[in-house]
Amino acid sequence: MAEHASAESSAQRRIFYESLVQQQLGPLWEIYANTLTSTPTPRDVAYRWQWKDLRPLLYEAARLVGPEEAERRVLMLLNPGLPALSAITQTLYAGMQIILPGEVARSHRHSPNALRFVVEGTGAFTAVNGERTIMHPGDFVTTPTWVWHDHGNEADSPVVWLDGLDMPFVTAVSAMFYQKYSEPQQPLTRPVGDSLARYGRGFRPAFESKEPSYSPIISYPYAAARSALETIADTETGSPYDGVLMQYLNPLTGGSVLPTMDAFLQWISPGRVLKAHRHTGATIYLGVQGHGVIEIDGQPYPWEPHDVIVVPSWSLHRHQNTGQEPAILFSFSDLPIIKAFSLYREESISE
Ligand SMILES: [Fe+2]
Ligand SMILES: [Fe+2]
Repeated sequence: MAEHASAESSAQRRIFYESLVQQQLGPLWEIYANTLTSTPTPRDVAYRWQWKDLRPLLYEAARLVGPEEAERRVLMLLNPGLPALSAITQTLYAGMQIILPGEVARSHRHSPNALRFVVEGTGAFTAVNGERTIMHPGDFVTTPTWVWHDHGNEADSPVVWLDGLDMPFVTAVSAMFYQKYSEPQQPLTRPVGDSLARYGRGFRPAFESKEPSYSPIISYPYAAARSALETIADTETGSPYDGVLMQYLNPLTGGSVLPTMDAFLQWISPGRVLKAHRHTGATIYLGVQGHGVIEIDGQPYPWEPHDVIVVPSWSLHRHQNTGQEPAILFSFSDLPIIKAFSLYREESISE
């Protein structure tokens, strides 16, 4: 009798589950443990792209693919844990872009915010809202949400930079907009250095009242940033986890440089082994000068200049300078998204 009842019950269950599928319904109890996990379980994984492997492929792309075909000639850094996405983390995209002498990457605008960090070559320009900035190695350049921007190279050697965008996040919340400018390049209405003169000298135009959600400075030159780090590192050890970690700011608000992305330049003195910690928010590191190792969940990722390493959310990570010179890293992260929704948590491991 009991056997009969149980057979009947399992038949009823099967019919029940099938009817749920037909009605676009699902039983929460089946996925509960996989959804409400006790700690984050990111799909993106720790990974390193080495410049020695990436560089020849980038120059091969430059030989094979013209700017007209590509609009932007970029090799995307694809996280092995996210095969279905063009993404380095679940919220961020990164790519390495090359522009040859005489080329123009035509003007457009899009709702995703973008940042650039120049890797090699001097003399390309990025134009943002009528102002050009000339790009030098180590310069940090922003093209915030929905501003017209184009790039060109009027110098005599190729220029390469790392692109970072919040594209996967913007796609996930269905807020993607994109528009091409009517001409390849936007008209120039402001002189080179205008935004730095207005907002990057510790004062601001008193005749303006705007406070945009992004920094109005379009370029943060490396020479000034490096010199600041060097001065500070002379007397300051900084964070036990990050050393002298300096955040690029929106000078009008004191907040993150872009509404969705934070960016940092970091100095780790020779011989220094920092402490391990973990926190929510994914970080993409780019080696700038010197040599180091990022240990991620127990796995060492040695880096040299221009290597890129991604540290997923909640991964335990520790920095070390393994060279004789200061180790300098650029990084960007999705912390403003995390913090805007009160999702930031940090934990250090006592040793
Ligand atoms: Fe763009
Ligand atoms: Fe960290």
